[in-house]
Amino acid sequence: MNTLVQQTIGWVDNRTGLRTAIRKFFLEDVPASTGWPQVFGSVALFLLLNQALTGILLAFNYSPGPGDAYSSLTYIIHQVAAGHLMRGLHHWGSTLMIIVVACHMLQVFVYGAYKKPREVTWALGVVLLLITLGFGLTGYLLPWDNKAYWGTVVTTQITQQVPFAGAYISTLIGAANGVGALTFARFYALHTLVLPALMIFTVAAHLTLVRRHGVAPAAPDDQHKRPFYPHQLFHDVVAIFIAFLALFLAAALIDVPLERMADPTDTTYVPRPEWYFLFLFQSLKFFHGPFEVVGSVGLPTVAILAMLAIPFIDRGRMRKLTERTAAIAVAILTIAGWSSLTLAAVASTPASLTSPPPTALDSKLVAKGAVLYVKAGCDSCHQVNGVGGHIGPALNRVAKRRSKEWIERHFVAPGALSPGSIMPPYRFPKEDQDALVTYLFSLPD
Ligand code: HEC
Repeated sequence: MNTLVQQTIGWVDNRTGLRTAIRKFFLEDVPASTGWPQVFGSVALFLLLNQALTGILLAFNYSPGPGDAYSSLTYIIHQVAAGHLMRGLHHWGSTLMIIVVACHMLQVFVYGAYKKPREVTWALGVVLLLITLGFGLTGYLLPWDNKAYWGTVVTTQITQQVPFAGAYISTLIGAANGVGALTFARFYALHTLVLPALMIFTVAAHLTLVRRHGVAPAAPDDQHKRPFYPHQLFHDVVAIFIAFLALFLAAALIDVPLERMADPTDTTYVPRPEWYFLFLFQSLKFFHGPFEVVGSVGLPTVAILAMLAIPFIDRGRMRKLTERTAAIAVAILTIAGWSSLTLAAVASTPASLTSPPPTALDSKLVAKGAVLYVKAGCDSCHQVNGVGGHIGPALNRVAKRRSKEWIERHFVAPGALSPGSIMPPYRFPKEDQDALVTYLFSLPD
């Protein structure tokens, strides 16, 4: 029996080189000083796989297109088995991935692991960071809720500021005439086709170079080596497990908000970017008028070029961590700057705007409206007091968001006010319309 297994393994190895490759992978030497600080790359890779897997699972039930996207997402959250969890894993996975990638870069930076001969490995790492941020930026639009819509309006306005190429770029991303179906299609294609391909290619190149030059020793005089397995593999696996545990708990316990569907008429909405872009948002406040482009395009470009230039500026020999005071000071200053900008942005976020509550309710009209509401089948899509369908937004607080006039115009042509809406148009007689609106405005919070 044993010999049969061995023969089979031998045959497979002979034909494919699989066993040799696996052995080589696990038994490759890494510096003996490698340990916990070096786990972040592996954790980032794990999180990338999580994004790919949960992204594919979401795509199986997602209908890409303004309006449909929102409805299919409500369907995923409420109806699909483990759909809520899947969305949580994808959302919090992206958040965690940004954090872990930042830790990975920070570790490489303070250890000076970007130094000769690893300059290209570092540059590819910077590209990977940009691809990751690109995923965040394009994915932000895909739920097609108000937050997604208005956030993307801000982003696309910033791209228009790019000197010379601005108009061209905004045509390219389908935002020349505002954020709409074309923008959605472009972002979706970028998020699911272009960026994944770029990501796979760049990760492969990055890992090939890591293997080619070996892991950088934590200290210059460290010539001791030992195999990747079991010592470093153990560290990596423990770190991945901790990351997975944190991610799973976040996905299971923290709801990812889904606001109401994108509403281009809602000009009172205060758009916010994803938290890791907040610092940029905040730094824009320092620039006004013609100088805005300095903050929105100039500074980020300089920051990216500076990151790429680091290995060519700092060309000294590898040093011990304790001797890298300048690098540590730069790292601390960067973190402090980033955090204070982010905190300032959070502090200046206004509480959501509310319109005055409804008054003078006619109880007879309310009763008539309640009956009409069920007769017309509104409850198949909307929830009232926790009962009803999930396709449209819950209507209990609709009076806080909408005026009577808005709702009446919306009845006749939902798509005109909420582009892509799947709510059918209704032409009620005037009294019925009054009754329905009065009923909706009478609902408790
Ligand atoms: C086929 C499903 C469907 C039916 C049936 C339906 N709606 Fe809707 N409704 C939606 C969707 C989806 C939205 C969100 C998009 C939009 O604003 O049009 C919506 C939005 C609304 C809004 C705006 C809510 C907000 O917060 O912006 C109101 C009010 C509303 N519906 C009332 C009704 C009433 C009253 C009826 C019955 C006469 C009804 N709907 C029937 C799907 C439906």
